[in-house]
Amino acid sequence: MRDSIERVLITKEQIQDKVKELAADISKDYREKNLVIVGVLKGAVVFMGDLVKNIDVPLMLDFIAVSSYGNTTETSGVVRILKDLDNSIEGMDVLIVEDIIDSGLTLYYLQENLRTRGASSIRICTLLDKPYRRKANVKVDYKGFEIEDEFVVGYGLDFAERFRNLPEICVLKPEEYNGR
Ligand code: IMP
Ligand code: MG
Repeated sequence: MRDSIERVLITKEQIQDKVKELAADISKDYREKNLVIVGVLKGAVVFMGDLVKNIDVPLMLDFIAVSSYGNTTETSGVVRILKDLDNSIEGMDVLIVEDIIDSGLTLYYLQENLRTRGASSIRICTLLDKPYRRKANVKVDYKGFEIEDEFVVGYGLDFAERFRNLPEICVLKPEEYNGR
């Protein structure tokens, strides 16, 4: 797996420091709230696991899986729910946790969809943000790192379902994207 990596963009230590910072901000903001953390499958799972271990207010976890029609490295904007939340979010303070925001279309759709279900509040937390690629206007409340327009893998993020288990955020060698 290491042979496929061109370089490490964000190290384990940088990620863990940032996760603690974000968790501290979230813990402060969600005292006395009804926090439910909604992880967007599958990319957000690794980040979400580390994040919640560092949040020290009561919370519940739920998951949603969405798919966008289109090719592997770009979103078409048409989003479909593959797996819905298990529980109602009526009256809850929802924090959506994502691995990365690129065009923003996935989160825009998701936020609009959850908004119709009577949540008290909806906020967004993402580990990575590619702001230059934005097509939909989404407000990011908690952000880990801004990155350039470059395809990354690891720490939950995949290329064709691989590399999610890398502990850091990496850029693959160009032949990995073309040759398979
Ligand atoms: P958006 O709708 O364009 O914001 O797409 C966001 C989704 O695209 C993320 O949840 C990822 O699944 C995927 N994605 C976007 N950029 C990357 C990347 O650099 N690496 C891996 N997945 C990515
Ligand atoms: Mg994703």
